[in-house]
Amino acid sequence: MLYETINLTVGEHQYPIYVGSDLLSNADLLRPYVAGRRAFLISNETVGPLFAPTLRQVLTDVELDEHFLPDGEAFKTLDRVTETVEHLIARGHTRDTTIVALGGGVVGDTAGFTAAVYQRGVPFVQIPTTLLAQVDASVGGKTAVNHALGKNMIGAFYQPQAVVIDTDTLNSLPERERIAGVAEVIKHGIMADKTYFAWVEAHLENILAQDPEVMSHAIARSCQIKSEIVADDEKEKGRRALLNLGHTFGHAIESALGYGEWLHGEAVGAGLVMAADLSARMKMLAPSDAFRIRSVVEKAGLPAMPPLQVVDQLRELMSRDKKASDAGLRLILVRSIGEAVVVPDVPEALIAETISAREALCGG
Ligand code: NAD
Ligand code: GLY
Repeated sequence: MLYETINLTVGEHQYPIYVGSDLLSNADLLRPYVAGRRAFLISNETVGPLFAPTLRQVLTDVELDEHFLPDGEAFKTLDRVTETVEHLIARGHTRDTTIVALGGGVVGDTAGFTAAVYQRGVPFVQIPTTLLAQVDASVGGKTAVNHALGKNMIGAFYQPQAVVIDTDTLNSLPERERIAGVAEVIKHGIMADKTYFAWVEAHLENILAQDPEVMSHAIARSCQIKSEIVADDEKEKGRRALLNLGHTFGHAIESALGYGEWLHGEAVGAGLVMAADLSARMKMLAPSDAFRIRSVVEKAGLPAMPPLQVVDQLRELMSRDKKASDAGLRLILVRSIGEAVVVPDVPEALIAETISAREALCGG
């Protein structure tokens, strides 16, 4: 059972991210991170039945309670955290209990936040089962639930004890969800590593076909890139903001369409193309590189522009985005493939041009 290990150090806390095939059934790997004799598995009604039986077999000497949430972003709420805490209390869980989060980003964010607040914090382990959660949400310790007035408005930075990424779990993931996760893989290349971006371009078909070795490499490299940034800037005072490349446009699209219409990764796909387009309009990025970015996003099967019906709402929504500074809109743009930068005061007229553009800026 071969796997890669990425060690993420945040202050005094260090934890491993394991990436490989058939890791869920690897007792030696998982067991050391369940510190006490009890664990509390948080999953959802879709993922729990698929993988909880394997975990039960592996954690034979652990008293494992299970709590399956309903499936969906609509249940990433404080009410569900309260309900989960009630189960923890009712079943007598103490500070020695380890919370195990099994699922996509919704489960990971909800379980992580529950772990952060239950008895002022209990250890937790992330077992992400969507590509998006494997390359992004499970790594770095951002946990949160939504409020009716905004997404991820109630949360905490709370790092897990370990992240166990079993690439086999992706086999049951619907194709649309897999493709959405590819957006974050592409993002990591554009943002921080031009060699990785070129590798993603060259191996896109294998990624889409879920070639196990290629997937393992893509997930491990993405986790490495994210880990390096989080190690440097856990609380997003600086460099971590670069991970939001494509997200300001993406959030505006999700919000204008109504959350759930497009998957998060689909909106990020279009957001990456828009960030590249705007970077080219600002004369920061070569148009040929903007074209490469658009091309890989399109080939992945992701949308490359916002839906026409929301174009008018986007500008207004973007200025309300929480990343807007007092002085004007602050955006993450691309200086070259492999280098994203924070740009304060982006001219509104250029943003409007990007939002309205229906064609590639340049044929490259
Ligand atoms: P998700 O958790 O809703 O999962 C998508 C769907 O796939 C769900 O229906 C889920 O039940 C199903 N699923 C999950 N694993 C499966 C599997 N192996 N087989 C079959 N079905 C499976 O969505 P997501 O894209 O994983 O996560 C999105 C969430 O992550 C959002 O709430 C977002 O805010 C959050 N997020 C958090 C961070 C962070 O740093 N904490 C980063 C990015 C996104
Ligand atoms: N998903 C962005 C971050 O973790 O900072």
